[in-house]
Amino acid sequence: MKLWGGRFGKASSKKAEEFTSSISFDKRLSSEDIAGSVAHARMLGNVGIITREESDQIIAGLGAVLKEIQDGTFPFRLEYEDIHMNIEKRLTEIAGPVAGKLHTARSRNDQIALDEHLFVKEQCDHVCYAIADLQSAVLEECREHEQAIMPGYTHMQRAQPTVYAHHMLAYFFMLERDYGRFRDCRKRADSMPLGAGALAGTTFPIDPAQVASELGFERLYENSADAVSDRDHILEFLAASAILASHLSRLAEELVLWSSTEFGFIEMDDAFSTGSSIMPQKKNPDVVELIRGKTGRVYGDLVGLLVVMKGIPLAYDSDMQEDKHGLFDAADTVIDCLDLMASVIDTMKVNSDRMRTAASNDFSTATDVADYLAAKGLPFRQAHEVAGRMVRHCLETSKYLADLTLQDFQNFCDLFQPDIFDAITVESSVRRRASPGGTAPERVHEQLAHAMQLLEAKRQHLEC
Ligand code: ARG
Repeated sequence: MKLWGGRFGKASSKKAEEFTSSISFDKRLSSEDIAGSVAHARMLGNVGIITREESDQIIAGLGAVLKEIQDGTFPFRLEYEDIHMNIEKRLTEIAGPVAGKLHTARSRNDQIALDEHLFVKEQCDHVCYAIADLQSAVLEECREHEQAIMPGYTHMQRAQPTVYAHHMLAYFFMLERDYGRFRDCRKRADSMPLGAGALAGTTFPIDPAQVASELGFERLYENSADAVSDRDHILEFLAASAILASHLSRLAEELVLWSSTEFGFIEMDDAFSTGSSIMPQKKNPDVVELIRGKTGRVYGDLVGLLVVMKGIPLAYDSDMQEDKHGLFDAADTVIDCLDLMASVIDTMKVNSDRMRTAASNDFSTATDVADYLAAKGLPFRQAHEVAGRMVRHCLETSKYLADLTLQDFQNFCDLFQPDIFDAITVESSVRRRASPGGTAPERVHEQLAHAMQLLEAKRQHLEC
């Protein structure tokens, strides 16, 4: 017999039952569902809606149900539709008719909302831990190669010399914003929806604040229709996941490029690479390629739910049952990707000679030539023009700027003095970019020091 069977004159079609059932995936919310039911039962007993004895019997029964779920012996049944009714049915078998009192003053609509709020809050914490671990791997890498010079790129063309640690610190700060987004998401998800009933509240004298305090919620929803209709917390989680995935994907893309023979800036550890079934020489960066690829899934999770939620009327609609696949998938995917990326970074080798050579054997200090002339009073636009003509001359004569003589320099502009040769080394180029946030050693050191402080503060916060 269905828990809602009273009104129905005939049994459900098997097809419809299979189509509407969510137990195959919402069983993942078992522990949240039981925690919510325990808090609800205790509150019902405390305020006298049921007796304390009944409340105790229900809570003990829920403990037994939880144990079965944890032991893997719980009989999940498709015909009981979802996790809420599966648990209630089993509770009835274990505790007897008193189980029928658990659903007083509650609906599955506020129940699922509660489960998902609890789940999103927990997952925000997991993602935050995983972000901190990746940030720590990034900082370790920066510390190890604080001075390594590499070409910085714009448009994927060598642009200006930069420091590897500076480049990697950019990812640290991107991850820092991701962390903030998950903390914000958690804060907004911290509203307790139970007590909304189906949509309009309940006729019983409930005390939702008790439930909120037992479950560790910061506040209650102010409006019961909002409480059961709202999936913003899931959308925010997915949006934060999508942005995070975009950052991981950009890093993954760089690691793929850098590990190619053409770049040769890094070598991935064998343990995080794979071979080819046909080409024996191959060592493929599959792990990072898949991190890049899984980004598509996470974007899909966000867009999928945005589309589900678009245009559905208040309050609860069954469309909303479709919110779980994407949520579970995105949470698992970003946590795995963060974890794998940390391991890849921990274990890869950096070829700093190769990076330095790539930065030196090129024209990436052409801006320094222009800056040199501009610092001597030539308007920057003219200085740019002179440096551009010099680059063209070098290309025509197969030289780099450092191969030119002082006379060659002075043929282009008489402001050049012998100190131009110092100005166009990659070391000087980097050293002189000492503006706030720049790639000069002392600036990188400052960024690194601040990043370490941020990570330390985060660790303390996460531990308490
Ligand atoms: N399984 C449903 C979901 O995941 C729970 C709420 C169902 N409420 C309802 N009236 N059908 O959204």
